[in-house]
Amino acid sequence: MVIKQKFSIDFQYDVIFTRDLFSPDNDTLIKILTKDENGGPARVVFVLDAGLTQAMSGLISTIGAYLSNHDDIQLLAPPLVVTGGEETKNSTREFIRTLELIDTAKVDRHAYVVAIGGGAVLDMVGFAAAVAHRGIRHIRIPSTTLSQNDSGVGVKNGINYFGKKNFLGTFVPPYAVINDLNLLQTLDIRDWRSGVAEAVKVALIKDKNFFQWIEQHTGKLNERDTDSMEELIIRCAELHASHIRGSDDPFEMGSSRPLDFGHWAAHKLEQLAGFELRHGEAVAIGIALDICYAVEAGYLDDLEADRIVGVLRQLGFDLVHPALFGQDGKEINPALIKGLEEFREHLGGHLTIPMISEIGSKFDVHEMNHLLIEAAARTLLQKQELYAHSPS
Ligand SMILES: NC(=O)c1ccc[n+]([C@@H]2O[C@H](COP(=O)([O-])OP(=O)(O)OC[C@H]3O[C@@H](n4cnc5c(N)ncnc54)[C@H](O)[C@@H]3O)[C@@H](O)[C@H]2O)c1
Ligand SMILES: [Zn+2]
Repeated sequence: MVIKQKFSIDFQYDVIFTRDLFSPDNDTLIKILTKDENGGPARVVFVLDAGLTQAMSGLISTIGAYLSNHDDIQLLAPPLVVTGGEETKNSTREFIRTLELIDTAKVDRHAYVVAIGGGAVLDMVGFAAAVAHRGIRHIRIPSTTLSQNDSGVGVKNGINYFGKKNFLGTFVPPYAVINDLNLLQTLDIRDWRSGVAEAVKVALIKDKNFFQWIEQHTGKLNERDTDSMEELIIRCAELHASHIRGSDDPFEMGSSRPLDFGHWAAHKLEQLAGFELRHGEAVAIGIALDICYAVEAGYLDDLEADRIVGVLRQLGFDLVHPALFGQDGKEINPALIKGLEEFREHLGGHLTIPMISEIGSKFDVHEMNHLLIEAAARTLLQKQELYAHSPS
């Protein structure tokens, strides 16, 4: 006897772009929170990134003032401020604190957890919201370029465990995402630049015109021109969102991870560098390494590789890090090669690594030759020096 069971669930959520989300006349958040409440006020708690609240010291009181002007929202507890950056994902401390908030404030499946912060805090809070009561509503307000154009837009969350990136986590779409460009003003230059690496990544695998646009705007992006950054974020977020929407595999059941170009090395480098590298910085190195590999393997023209490395350098990225190499500083770090197997384990199934044959055109490979990776790292060293004097 077999009872055949099959159903599907439609997910939908908006990624909204605004400025000054908590100014008195901005009703973006109110509209989302009160959309489907029957009668009573929308019940809500906030979890905030400490890096953001330190940089923007008036934020908590601005949110308080905003909420006190709205009777249709009930704050269930004072905002919880959690450690920002990768540290928030590297232990269960902030994850447990977030669960405790959900418990003590009695946040149920019809109330909301609103997280404001970088990708790391959003990943951690998203995971807590996904597992508490088997899933409560989660609104993401990303406060870094990377989380606005990539991590905050998607359906994944998680924390690091056993020393491995995102070992614990789930695929759960947010209730809504609100990108407030003004939150980016207080970012330091490394975090401002970091998100641009993910834009280069998605342009390389999907959109040649977007790559050209980035190439033409490296100067403006370096000067922190907000209009250029806004355009980059919107185009990049749309490419990520449309990929998830349009693919047959939004929850990554198969082996392929097209959006993870350059990421097998990036994830391992982050760990090997003791999380001193930002995710986006590691992604820039991972992209450059895979680009050099593509040349070594005969997939990509060397001139095309030079163009990509040149753009990454003009954006100010360092494409070589000591963690790339072993103790002699020349041979590839054997621990990095282990990243390939860890990437496969994380995906399950066959090793599947995205590669490009030209800008905007991706294909998958299912093995990587260690000698060619080694050669790619050496080539990368040379190219980094070649572009050492590019304006940044
Ligand atoms: N879920 C996904 O699909 C996905 C995709 C890509 C990356 N990620 C994850 O995202 C994380 C990286 O996120 P990130 O690049 O946003 O960096 P981050 O979250 O590590 O934040 C970087 C630093 O900026 C601070 N900060 C945040 N907002 C600020 C602001 N407005 N002003 C000043 N400081 C601020 C933080 O406190 C932190 O110190 C990694 O853990 C990565 O694995 C997840
Ligand atoms: Zn990434």
